[in-house]
Amino acid sequence: MGYSKFDFGEDFQWGVSTAAYQIEGAHNIHGKGVSIWDKFVQNSSKIKDGSHADVGCNFYEHFEKDLDIIRELHIPNYRFSIAWSRILPNGIGEVNQKGIDFYNRLIDGCLERNITPWVTLYHWDLPQALEDQGGWTNREILNWFEEFTTLCARSFGDRVVNWMILNEPMVFTGAGYFLGYHAPGRKGMSNFLSAMHHATLCQSLGARILRNELEDAKIGTTFSCSHIDPMTNDEKDVAAANRFDALLNRLFIEPALGLGYPLDDLPIAKRVEKYMMPHDESRMHFDFDFIGVQNYTREVVKSNWMIPYMKGQIVNADERNVPLTTMNWEVYPKSIYNVLKKFDAYEGVKELIVTENGVAFPETVVEGRIKDLDRVQFIQQYLHQVLKAQREGVNVTGYFLWTLLDNFEWAEGYTQRFGLIHTDFDTQERIIKDSGHWYKRFLQSAKVRNLVV
Ligand code: BGC
Repeated sequence: MGYSKFDFGEDFQWGVSTAAYQIEGAHNIHGKGVSIWDKFVQNSSKIKDGSHADVGCNFYEHFEKDLDIIRELHIPNYRFSIAWSRILPNGIGEVNQKGIDFYNRLIDGCLERNITPWVTLYHWDLPQALEDQGGWTNREILNWFEEFTTLCARSFGDRVVNWMILNEPMVFTGAGYFLGYHAPGRKGMSNFLSAMHHATLCQSLGARILRNELEDAKIGTTFSCSHIDPMTNDEKDVAAANRFDALLNRLFIEPALGLGYPLDDLPIAKRVEKYMMPHDESRMHFDFDFIGVQNYTREVVKSNWMIPYMKGQIVNADERNVPLTTMNWEVYPKSIYNVLKKFDAYEGVKELIVTENGVAFPETVVEGRIKDLDRVQFIQQYLHQVLKAQREGVNVTGYFLWTLLDNFEWAEGYTQRFGLIHTDFDTQERIIKDSGHWYKRFLQSAKVRNLVV
């Protein structure tokens, strides 16, 4: 079957996403403060190739040219995040005007090119000064986050309509405060549960602040979501898969919807009660205008009583004889359909936007060209599933590709290339990959039809 962008509807929002730490560079100039990622990467054993993003894609200096490319590719929407420590070097207190100026230039640069900016407030780069006081594990973060959000609303809200509060709270609390393989590298259940609870509170607090400050704002927040299958139909595997589903897919959205934490299906999270104060249950609730769904793969889970807390484990994709990306993630297009259906089924979810989907595959530059047909096929197949969900009545209204240009992939360093644009990290040269040209053709014309392979 084939489809064109018009099959998704005239008003469907097509876009591309990035995050500040992964692309901006300029880590210590013009008054920027240190973030937890600036510090974390100093310990090179934490990053696969020992790299850091002090310079990254140097988007801070190249952003005008990069916006020109977005324009050239006919991408109408651009999602980026604000580096908290660029505008508030110590997290709170003194404002760095040069940081505000940068985001003003970026927002104005979008608008001048007819590109709609979509702003994520927090994409994982907490100011180190706040981490030194406990970071997400300290309930004071509610006050810190209020100050940051208010500053963003008042500085940029006259031109930015579309906002997302958090990027994937499950990932930054899980990888950053439980497993320790993302910044700030902390571990353990009490760090995780306190960070999780405070992130849940900030998710709705940030949204309430924006709502009060900016009457016409369209307010969402984003979640990492993966369809989960049990390894077998054995009831132990099925029960383990349910626990992982509660942890990975339900833990942050359900409190936002007023349903509270899914404690019945995730008994370990009951210990969160230790961090809960009177009225927190209602504070966690906010009527979001949209929910950002970020999907890459599915997970397969099996029971394992040796594993603490979860009594189960994710079975790595490379042990399952399935098609793989270089992240060692399974290519499984139906996952995006399943998560859209799942989230749409919640009463209270008004609108879904795919705020991230994309892939890293092996690729090489041959005579100045990157022939990434496999990425094009991946996107086509996932989009086909998005369309299928929409045709079945799911209110999915947008799709943002991850990502604009190859960048710093967190603990994977520069080993993973997710971009529509190839970045040469030595010269900062950009080459539009074949997938970028394909996206342009797709967005430009009704006549280009995708053949789903
Ligand atoms: C994150 C991005 C990341 C991407 C690919 C998402 O979890 O929001 O920052 O680069 O996945 O791993």
